[in-house]
Amino acid sequence: MGASIELENLSKRYPGNPSPAVDDVSMEIRPGETVVFVGPSGCGKSTTLKMINRLIEPSSGRIRIDDQDVTRIDPVKLRRKVGYAIQSSGLFPHMTVAENIALVPKMVGWSKARVRDRVEEMLDLVGLDPKEFHGRYPRRLSGGQQQRVGVARALAADPPVLLMDEPFGAVDPITRDHLQDELIRLQHELHKTIVFVTHDFDEAIKLGDRIAVLRERSHIAQFDTPEAILTNPADDFVSGFVGAGAALKRLNLTRVRDVGIAGFPTVSVDDPLQTIFDRLRGGPHNELLMLDRRGRPYKWLRRGDLMRAKGSLARAGQLVHDTVTRDATLHDALEAVLIDSSGRVAVTGRRGEYIGVVDMETLMNSVHEMLEADRLTAIEHQHDLEEARHHRTEAELEGGA
Ligand SMILES: Nc1ncnc2c1ncn2[C@@H]1O[C@H](COP(=O)(O)OP(=O)(O)OP(=O)(O)O)[C@@H](O)[C@H]1O
Ligand SMILES: [Mg+2]
Repeated sequence: MGASIELENLSKRYPGNPSPAVDDVSMEIRPGETVVFVGPSGCGKSTTLKMINRLIEPSSGRIRIDDQDVTRIDPVKLRRKVGYAIQSSGLFPHMTVAENIALVPKMVGWSKARVRDRVEEMLDLVGLDPKEFHGRYPRRLSGGQQQRVGVARALAADPPVLLMDEPFGAVDPITRDHLQDELIRLQHELHKTIVFVTHDFDEAIKLGDRIAVLRERSHIAQFDTPEAILTNPADDFVSGFVGAGAALKRLNLTRVRDVGIAGFPTVSVDDPLQTIFDRLRGGPHNELLMLDRRGRPYKWLRRGDLMRAKGSLARAGQLVHDTVTRDATLHDALEAVLIDSSGRVAVTGRRGEYIGVVDMETLMNSVHEMLEADRLTAIEHQHDLEEARHHRTEAELEGGA
């Protein structure tokens, strides 16, 4: 379970620089919450983040974790509470994957056996086979795998707080998407308090329970939920950061698990041709999803495909191009539906196994509902503003009388 974090009038002046890099930041972060810092390059995101685990010592102000003032405690003790993961993983190249992950648990004095078990557990948790990756050196891993090990290392001593500084900045967009989904899944299980830094507003929307939009010297321009920032940006600076297409960005706020996942008729590649034929002819659908031997979506089969198949299904049907997990955003799902020719996308579990489908109509209905809800919020907001203005005028009139 996560811990609360409180920053109190936190400032940092670097030597030789007359103006502070971080100037008087105060912020409260709730236990188990994911807070994302976004803001332009050089605005002080990393400096603020690194003051939380005192990789950078604050010039003034205070940091509290779960009501304990940690501004003056031994940094080693502090780092037991606070995991840290950075861009391009920051793994030690001369240590194996297992040695990298074992680093903090060893440092805080765990027994050998406990450390060994923990390393295995962490590799499992981030989706790397312990047998295969345990003894590898970081240079023999892909960028995405290195990043996973970086997250495993940060979580190894089970800290209540996790700091992440552009951890997915250096990987390609598809891998980044997967790593984001994994982080969301992990967070569902672990409920850490996460402070996450990014340049990328879309990443912030996807990951954050709340987003702090920062301007120069880490001044907080707006600190609120993604929904609130998208629908009511505080000022032009925030609007500029949100960028164009706020309506489409709302798609990043809803997940496949929140819309209707429907069942769909399936067959297995191992089923006899006659069975498949009968299912297609007998059932209400003129389409089936064929699963492979491990229960993963493989092909969409239509009635017409079977007519042309002539005794073998090897070349019949349309291969499944893309699938989504329950944690994928509607944006991902819509993209997958557009890529696949079937008008729907298959939803899969942790091992790629078939769970159900989401179709285009369900997606469009959710989008309409979201936009309608936004419109109502905007009207209410407008109404509140007018009401306030009205009261003020009344008060002025009374005051003048
Ligand atoms: N060690 C240092 N000594 C002096 N000035 C520094 C030092 N580290 C950072 N700064 C300055 O402090 C300011 C904030 O830097 P910081 O790294 O926190 O920005 P950032 O928001 O993380 O930027 P980016 O998005 O580019 O990573 C910058 O103006 C930077 O030049
Ligand atoms: Mg930075």
